[in-house]
Amino acid sequence: MPAMAHYLPVSRVARLVGQSRSAIQRMIHDGELSTFDGMVDMNELLRVFPGVQWEDDGEYKRVEEIKAKAFGKRVFERTLPDKAVLAERLYELGKEFAAAKSLLLHYDEVFRFLGDKLDDVTETGGAATVDAVAGLKHWLKRELEAAPSEAERAEALLAQESVMRIMSVQVTVQPSGHEFFVEGNDTLLEAALRAGIPLDYGCSNGNCGECKARLLSGQVKKVHPHDFVLKDVEKENGAILLCSYTPITDVVLEAHVAGADDIPEQEIPTKVKVVELLNDQLAALHLTAPRSKRLRFLAGQHVTLSADGAEGEYYVASCPCEDRHIEVHVRRDNRGFSRKVFDGLRKEDGVSLLGPRGQFVMKLDSRRSLIFVAWEESFAPIKSLVQHAMSLETADSMHLYWVAGEAGHYQDNLCRAWADALDNFTYQALSIEPGAATVAEGILAHHPDLSHIDIYAAGPAAFLKALEAGALARGLSPLGWHGEIVL
Ligand code: FES
Repeated sequence: MPAMAHYLPVSRVARLVGQSRSAIQRMIHDGELSTFDGMVDMNELLRVFPGVQWEDDGEYKRVEEIKAKAFGKRVFERTLPDKAVLAERLYELGKEFAAAKSLLLHYDEVFRFLGDKLDDVTETGGAATVDAVAGLKHWLKRELEAAPSEAERAEALLAQESVMRIMSVQVTVQPSGHEFFVEGNDTLLEAALRAGIPLDYGCSNGNCGECKARLLSGQVKKVHPHDFVLKDVEKENGAILLCSYTPITDVVLEAHVAGADDIPEQEIPTKVKVVELLNDQLAALHLTAPRSKRLRFLAGQHVTLSADGAEGEYYVASCPCEDRHIEVHVRRDNRGFSRKVFDGLRKEDGVSLLGPRGQFVMKLDSRRSLIFVAWEESFAPIKSLVQHAMSLETADSMHLYWVAGEAGHYQDNLCRAWADALDNFTYQALSIEPGAATVAEGILAHHPDLSHIDIYAAGPAAFLKALEAGALARGLSPLGWHGEIVL
């Protein structure tokens, strides 16, 4: 007898079986895992992942072990939800269990009643009826007493999923369909940005109203007191501020996902965190934006930095998901802002930032595999894009090629660490020596069919031209080409 139907969202399935969301989506696409209304039945999950062993006993102690195993890396490193949020989530889960228990008690009553009815039939029926009823009662008894197949694994899966729902809840954004988890004490806005989903926002503190969204289902709790910008009639229609609320249950929101044209140019007074020498010729300048004025940007964009009258234009190398941290790569040059970075800037010095600008950004609705190509120091925007793609977790696979000469592969270890950590990520460090056309051919030779790929490439015009022409000849859709001639 199968376990009771219980449906799980795809993102949670991915977490439960320890695979990426894109891997699960690929299984659904290939027909290996079936869904109902975008949800996965628990029995289907048990069938498709027979090798995955959830803990085999439902006692609290065992659940604690499951919890530690499931969340050891993901949640316990971060802050846990506060007591009030935990209490509300437990209460919601308690209500669900109470409803399930009451349903079971009702079924029990119905079965008792059925037994009495069958006894009545036996008393008034003939020999054939008595035999038939006895057979039916025997079958019913056997079925009710038999443990459902896979009962232990199903119980452990339910326990693990329940703990997961207490510790982190899932948010689905409509109409884009993006999904993300909210963990710890994050607001909806903080969690969305951490997951690489650029929802609309402004002040981050409840004053401007630009993060207004509509709650379509689920429950939220106000964690910051400010939501005065919302009118009562808006609140009655489900309006919430993403920067002031955290979810209690899984929620569905109607919210706008911003593109490059939606993000205004901002002027931000940042502070130097550290100047990190990458080699003789390059430095990574790490800046921190004020808590009240974070930089809103998309991976792949660039900004103007200035200090004491010296100015320079740089691609942001960090991910928008890194909150207040901004990283740029600066080449040594005895002039302007570069000179300031190598000779003068110290921790806590002020650097003024103006931006962002640029259209070399991630196509958020694509689920295709990604090829990233960086030429020399154009690694900076590519690094930001790679990290953005990682936090989005939607690409089937990612392949990074870094072509370098004199400057070297100055963050080679980081790229190798990505390849080591992710099953669906490959990295190749290439030399500039053979020349633009040959290097482009060499990269494309690894990908004979580019019909389901997006390419993000940054470098000099000649190299991009060769790469684009070769890629289109191998079936790349013109919409899949994203090239940036470096500044
Ligand atoms: S970002 Fe300004 S109110 Fe939320």
